[in-house]
Amino acid sequence: MLVQNQIVLAADRLSKRFGGNIVVDQVSIAFAKGRLHSILGPNGAGKTTLFNLLTRDLTPDSGAIRLGATDITDLTPDRVARMGVARSYQISSVYLDMSARENVWVAAYRARGGNSFVFWRQVTRFAETREWAFSCLERLGLVEIADVPVRELSYGDQRLLELAVTLACEPRIILLDEPTAGLSSKEAERVKRVIMALKGEFSIIMIEHNVGIVMDLSDEITVMNRGAVIAHGSPFEIRENRDVQEAYFGG
Ligand SMILES: Nc1ncnc2c1ncn2[C@@H]1O[C@H](COP(=O)(O)OP(=O)(O)OP(=O)(O)O)[C@@H](O)[C@H]1O
Ligand SMILES: [Mg+2]
Repeated sequence: MLVQNQIVLAADRLSKRFGGNIVVDQVSIAFAKGRLHSILGPNGAGKTTLFNLLTRDLTPDSGAIRLGATDITDLTPDRVARMGVARSYQISSVYLDMSARENVWVAAYRARGGNSFVFWRQVTRFAETREWAFSCLERLGLVEIADVPVRELSYGDQRLLELAVTLACEPRIILLDEPTAGLSSKEAERVKRVIMALKGEFSIIMIEHNVGIVMDLSDEITVMNRGAVIAHGSPFEIRENRDVQEAYFGG
């Protein structure tokens, strides 16, 4: 059993209805520090809607969300993002006319409060921020393309850059919605290796349809079906679970 302070983000009986449809139904879920926690489920299960509730891009009808010890249920998405709940793979998070290097630099600079006068006075902090931002490109294997304008990068490199920009903000938790969607199997393998390398250092929640990737990467898995959580456990436990086999793998 996890002790309270190991939980980074938690939802308590979260529900969301669109018209007559209950899309997220009394979902309680906890994400632990340094773990890679995947969410599996068939199309329309409510996975992305759950992400939208956790980031507060959508307002829950009922239930509560906690980030560490703080209740964030009533906060704006902007505030939640600034508190360290980072959602990757939003194309709006990168500037297409800037290079990869400039993109991570701007993200890191903003996240560290670079608008303040004091920041500019502290030259060492300025240099540290540049170094930190560049290390995020290194972590994702993007050094070779560091100075190429983003619009000239391959789709796979752009997706990885979005993740680098997310890391540069030093998030408390990272939400990845289908990080390998639309990628070739070679590119998906590259993204998988990168996520593997980030595991443990960052707390990650990942929605992903590629079951092989989920089984290989996850510390724990929650399975949703029709808006509700139907199972939670280790990859082995989930593979063996009969309810999951019926709902997700078709028997
Ligand atoms: N803004 C919205 N208005 C009305 N219905 C919505 C809205 N967003 C999602 N839905 C519906 O809610 C249900 C769950 O959608 P959601 O996108 O959360 O599923 P998902 O598990 O992420 O599916 P997928 O694996 O296909 O991405 C679907 O039936 C969808 O049509
Ligand atoms: Mg989805």
